[in-house]
Amino acid sequence: MFPSEVYIERRKKLRAGISGGIILFLGNQEVSFNYPSNTYPFRQDSNFSYFFGLDHPDLVGIIDLDLDKDWIFGNDIDIDDIIWMGKLPSIKEQADLVGVTDSGSLNELTELILTARNKGRTIHFAPPYRGETILWLSDLLGVPHLELRQHVSKLLIKNIIKLRMKKDAREIAEIEKMVDVAYLMHTTAMKMAKPGIIEQEIAGTIEGIALSHGCSVSFPVILSINGQTLHNHYHGNTLTKGRMLVIDAGCENNLHYSSDITRSVPVGGTFNLRQKGIYEIVLNANLVAIKAMNPGIPFREIHMLAATEIAKGLTNLGIMKGDPVEAASRGAHTLFFPHGLGHPLGLDVHDLEGMGENLVGYDEEVRRSKEFGLAFLRFGRKLEEGFVMTIEPGIYFIPELIDIWKAENRLAEFINFDVVETYKDFGGIRIEDDVLVTANGYRVLGKPIPKTVTEIEEMVRW
Ligand code: GLY
Ligand code: MN
Repeated sequence: MFPSEVYIERRKKLRAGISGGIILFLGNQEVSFNYPSNTYPFRQDSNFSYFFGLDHPDLVGIIDLDLDKDWIFGNDIDIDDIIWMGKLPSIKEQADLVGVTDSGSLNELTELILTARNKGRTIHFAPPYRGETILWLSDLLGVPHLELRQHVSKLLIKNIIKLRMKKDAREIAEIEKMVDVAYLMHTTAMKMAKPGIIEQEIAGTIEGIALSHGCSVSFPVILSINGQTLHNHYHGNTLTKGRMLVIDAGCENNLHYSSDITRSVPVGGTFNLRQKGIYEIVLNANLVAIKAMNPGIPFREIHMLAATEIAKGLTNLGIMKGDPVEAASRGAHTLFFPHGLGHPLGLDVHDLEGMGENLVGYDEEVRRSKEFGLAFLRFGRKLEEGFVMTIEPGIYFIPELIDIWKAENRLAEFINFDVVETYKDFGGIRIEDDVLVTANGYRVLGKPIPKTVTEIEEMVRW
């Protein structure tokens, strides 16, 4: 946990943006896995974590804007809990740790909310995303669960986004620590990427590295020789020479700041000509995009810059044709690069996504596109100092997508479908880094993870 001043300051800033009522933050509860007392590892809600820091289940934070008072609500544990789970500080002691002077039980919370409702006070809350929280909120507020969404506070969401998007030095240091653990995860995966190994052996090993550093994975490990499936969680294939292995994995610590890194390596450690050709295009797109990171530039422009580099590279290889700038502007690259360039990273691996992608990533100036490919860009608006973004271009040969485009002759003036056919067994390549927007540009976070062809070949052959 950070020192209590950090949480006091964050709550103060939140208060400054909202004029009256109560802000209600329900922390997460335990969630059952296959029977009630067998639960998933506990993960705190990121907003609760940001404003109240405490990392235990069944806690509630309240900011009363009219009384200028904060509360932590929760139930003190009893002797049965102590026997099974160990001792915990009292709710009052936990509240003290994060600079909250008032505390109470969950029954007292229910009373407080009921009184506020009876007085017609505004109760601000962020969109819930877990069934348990939805039911709890519904009971507390007396709102049917299906109607809760209509009552979320836009003002609260806006203020949370404003605060959490800009990372301070402490937060950046936590993200960098997580990239450093990801360095170990990725270099270990690279060294294991030999023919005959089953994907799950590597996936399990690198998840174990996260755990052995007191972390958990920040999302289920994506690791596959079928990297053309963007989020491939199947880990049962045996690695064979000639395939690229895509490893998209990161971790989060007990403060919940995360990393999200992707590397793509040739099984066995030597790129063949075809793999090297595609790899260099993706690497160039990654580097060009990173270099363009600067406060004031719309992220959509950087996405399109990467898309244009990909179109240029594929045109040089004869996979695409015509003017690559026009091809990218017409969306022809989306046959090979159908997703967005990146997303914010922080307490959530897709930071703040639960607040609503469009509210986080778009504004009056930059509206979300509905076009295939660009529609998947989660964030398009102007960058600001302190934002942390992933930069993750890729090239994929998705046989089913190729078949559809070919049958429709879609954008055929830019695509050599005959050549594309010969790449249907290629798989995919993605390269992802975590990048901070600084006052004058950018900084790639954490210990550099092998990325050039030479660096990767050396690491895999190790
Ligand atoms: N690393 C998974 C994603 O960015 O969606
Ligand atoms: Mn990512």
